[in-house]
Amino acid sequence: MCGWVLKRFTKRGDIVVDLFSGMGTTLIECKHLGRGGLGVEIDPMVAERSLQRIKSAENPFNVPVAVLVGDSTLAVTAKRVIATLKDWGTDAADCVILHPPYHDIIRFSECDGDLSRVTSEGDFLDKIGLVARHAFEVLKPAGFMALVIGDKYVDSRLVPLGFMCMQRCIDAGFVLKAINVKEILNNERGKGKNSNLWKYRALLGGFYLFKHEYVMIFRKPATRAKRAPKGVAP
Ligand SMILES: C[S@@+](CC[C@H](N)C(=O)[O-])C[C@H]1O[C@@H](n2cnc3c(N)ncnc32)[C@H](O)[C@@H]1O
Repeated sequence: MCGWVLKRFTKRGDIVVDLFSGMGTTLIECKHLGRGGLGVEIDPMVAERSLQRIKSAENPFNVPVAVLVGDSTLAVTAKRVIATLKDWGTDAADCVILHPPYHDIIRFSECDGDLSRVTSEGDFLDKIGLVARHAFEVLKPAGFMALVIGDKYVDSRLVPLGFMCMQRCIDAGFVLKAINVKEILNNERGKGKNSNLWKYRALLGGFYLFKHEYVMIFRKPATRAKRAPKGVAP
């Protein structure tokens, strides 16, 4: 999923944190490419299954890989991530990957805190904002973050979820560097193929949409910009 992100924005020996690690695809790619990988997954059963997959993948560069069971919206989870990074000999991640649920398009689990169970769009976005802040906290200055996200269609309304989440990442302090649009036609497994009738609706409505998701690239500033005190011209 994010192999090109890892190749382009990290180097061998770097550490990548995936705050929605699911079945561990990113972490397996980390192993193959010689990057350490730390995942966070809310569903203990998914985390366990991903660990089996990860363990069976070759580790030619002998990098550390682990999955924490936790809720990425919580500060305590960010603390656990930082503690694990310290155990691995570093203070911060070199790259962060966010591949959250696209709100409620697919229900991932019945676990409390699963973002696919959040009922309102506003609450979902607030929680994405929290995750973005934790991503900012665990990432080293000048490090890159990739957000993989799609839009959704509900009640005859296109919800630009990708751009809404993008704004939450900017609000958390990230600088947006690029928006890559990826066609996911014929690659729809796990993306609501049966329930998500985008193309049909788009054609019916007289507009054309190709089924897509975004890979948005952000960067944490090298140093925090100094803010002028309120009421004082910069
Ligand atoms: C789109 S999937 C990620 C897929 C992943 N890239 C893979 O390779 O399988 C989103 C994942 O986020 C998990 N998740 C949902 N809410 C979460 C939360 N608050 N904290 C951590 N993980 C969460 C879901 O259980 C699901 O596995």
